[in-house]
Amino acid sequence: MKQALEIKELNQRFGIPEIVKIVAGHGGLTRVEVTSRSAQGEMYLHGAHVTSWKPSNAEEVLFVSSQSHWNDSRPIRGGVPVCFPWFSSKSDDVNAPMHGFARTTAWQLESIVQTGDAVTVSMFIESNEATKKWWPADFRAVHRATFGPELILELEVVNTGKTSFQFEEALHSYFQVGNIETVLVKGLNGVDYIDKIDEKRTKTQNGEIAIVSETDRVYLNTAAAVDVQDPALHRQITIAKENSVSTVVWNPWIQKAKAMPDFGDTEWPQMICIETCNIGDSFVELTPGQRHQMKAIVRVSKL
Ligand code: BG6
Repeated sequence: MKQALEIKELNQRFGIPEIVKIVAGHGGLTRVEVTSRSAQGEMYLHGAHVTSWKPSNAEEVLFVSSQSHWNDSRPIRGGVPVCFPWFSSKSDDVNAPMHGFARTTAWQLESIVQTGDAVTVSMFIESNEATKKWWPADFRAVHRATFGPELILELEVVNTGKTSFQFEEALHSYFQVGNIETVLVKGLNGVDYIDKIDEKRTKTQNGEIAIVSETDRVYLNTAAAVDVQDPALHRQITIAKENSVSTVVWNPWIQKAKAMPDFGDTEWPQMICIETCNIGDSFVELTPGQRHQMKAIVRVSKL
């Protein structure tokens, strides 16, 4: 009843007739649904998590696991988890949530704006007692997702406190592919990477990436756009970025897929993560009042 009232209020404040509505989505979690002339999209308040983007006349671009949890204490498996303010495990606290607290926090709607055929949904979080339990910083973070002929994701962080802080961030995008074994990832030739499944050794990428086994790599000092060529679906997904210098490429392959309770055993051939990040030595530092914006711009073209 309470949630129904909240959803009614959100629709009154932010809904756009025929184009944007707010509903109870999977697991009853509050979801913004966009249906414009150029695209359809979905974004949850839980984690400010984008779970769907379907440009007109195209198939779904994002992958979401059929086994995903849909509750407010667990991250959604698929779409675009927002990892903040750390990536992977927290270096000084083994009990802290993997990939930061942002993806399991309830964000608030800030605005929904229609510009031409595209719609931008903005959600925010601010530091409070719960965030300070894990991380002492005073901050405001906004995730803006523009659903249009391109999917534009922008994560903005502002230091609202009196001391500097450092953080890591990732737009951990899961893309739907037809068959991972025929996918080629282009754009990272010659770039150094940390191979997380080979004792974090640093290696250099030679040519395009073919995924032939479990792959978990942090590409370093790269601002390059990445192309995911997918002959099975006859399409190419291009992920361009701004103010991001790390890119993660991840596919769990067979054993890891089986080990993850919220991921289907046979789903690994249907997805690849290309993550727009600033992580590890490429963390971001903000002095009081300073802001940082990281952007991922996703396009699809025929192959
Ligand atoms: C990737 C990491 O970004 O996320 C992997 O590089 C990790 O090491 C994967 O396994 C999934 O993480 P999680 O917390 O969503 O299971």
